[in-house]
Amino acid sequence: MKIFIIGSGGREHAIAWKLAQSKKVESLFIAPGNAGTQTCGMNISIDPMNFQEVRNAVLSVGADMVVVGPEAPLVAGLVDFFAGDEQLKNIPIIGPGKQAAMLEGSKDFAKNFMVKYGIPTAQFRTFDINNVGEARNYLQSMTPPYVLKADGLAAGKGVMILNTIDEALGELDAMLTGKFGEAGRKVVIEEFLRGIEVSVFVVTDGRNYRILPEAKDYKRAGEGDTGPNTGGMGAVSPVPFATEHFMYKVEKRIIKPTIEGLAKEGIKYKGFIFFGLMNAEGDPYVIEYNVRLGDPEAEVILPRIESDLADLLEGVAMENLKKRKIVFDKRFVSTVVMVSEGYPGKYEKNKEIFGLNLVSDCIVFHSGTRTENGKIFTNGGRVLAVTAYGSTLYEALQNSYRNAALISWDGMYYRTEIGFDLL
Ligand code: AMP
Ligand code: GLY
Repeated sequence: MKIFIIGSGGREHAIAWKLAQSKKVESLFIAPGNAGTQTCGMNISIDPMNFQEVRNAVLSVGADMVVVGPEAPLVAGLVDFFAGDEQLKNIPIIGPGKQAAMLEGSKDFAKNFMVKYGIPTAQFRTFDINNVGEARNYLQSMTPPYVLKADGLAAGKGVMILNTIDEALGELDAMLTGKFGEAGRKVVIEEFLRGIEVSVFVVTDGRNYRILPEAKDYKRAGEGDTGPNTGGMGAVSPVPFATEHFMYKVEKRIIKPTIEGLAKEGIKYKGFIFFGLMNAEGDPYVIEYNVRLGDPEAEVILPRIESDLADLLEGVAMENLKKRKIVFDKRFVSTVVMVSEGYPGKYEKNKEIFGLNLVSDCIVFHSGTRTENGKIFTNGGRVLAVTAYGSTLYEALQNSYRNAALISWDGMYYRTEIGFDLL
């Protein structure tokens, strides 16, 4: 198979790394990719949001399958674009269509879907500029902390958690008057859930599914879970508190009703579903759906799949996932994300990265990197994810940190206590 991967982050590097190990894969293309994906296949410099460019590239390389990494092209309808094109419609594309992608693209849609299918989630109501008064009353009826969410995609920044009612009311006004642009035109106000978060992933062909390894993501920029929310500063898998008993509840109360609900809605879903869950005293609640793999979660869960990812994706494409096996690697895997100073706020790019030749017993997945004259430079906020295995979580973390310490650039930063809460 010739597989065409869309995206340019650590997740896409991990997908490419995993697919490159498959006997079924003849060649890999990553569009646009980064300095790391170049070592797994060929980068193709296109804009994934420009569907004509995607079309031309997919056809010109003769791809047999397309795997979509990030949410934006899915929410914008790339899969529907394929379905409507004579030459693309027979090329399998892994990712949901526009309507299903609303599970991530609209919090209001996702919440209503969960209510309809009895999937446990926080109590909520949705408001817009026409019912500000009711929104204020609803907020006042709740107890702190207050959770406000922009309905649409807001680059991971659309969720605000506020401790006082004055801050919450102020934020409500800011959101409804354009703070997040179109994404914040509707605002979901919901109950605050107490517990510990875990990310659960499945891949589905629309009827059958396979559960992938779970992960815990570290979202805050600062040590000890402080500072602003980021895309993710590190991750580990497996997650000790995601016991067999807990995962049984997740499958029964959340995964099955989600897959069945999509089918009942007449939505054909082929791709990954990412369940952002809260474990509240042993019971799982959905905080959010994403319609893709997580980043940096992909950098720990894909290394924990021993079996062939290309075979699973072929099962998705051919709608016979039921016949495909998934085997997990029993080891622990951790990843530490190395970022540009200032991320998730303002940061500088184009810093030369040193020490990549010094690492051992780890996989350095690239996010925001680029090459020039054989040198590697930073090209984003999240730059590298240093992934390592261990027979214990402690050993995996030691390996990630020993190697991260060998890599440097001007203004490099990473958290030094990823996974420590689980030791
Ligand atoms: P999201 O962008 O939806 O992933 O939300 C960002 C983060 O906000 C989540 O990972 C949680 O840590 C937190 N969060 C979102 N909704 C809730 C909630 N209802 N209760 C508690 N924390 C929440
Ligand atoms: N790491 C969280 C996400 O990918 O959304």
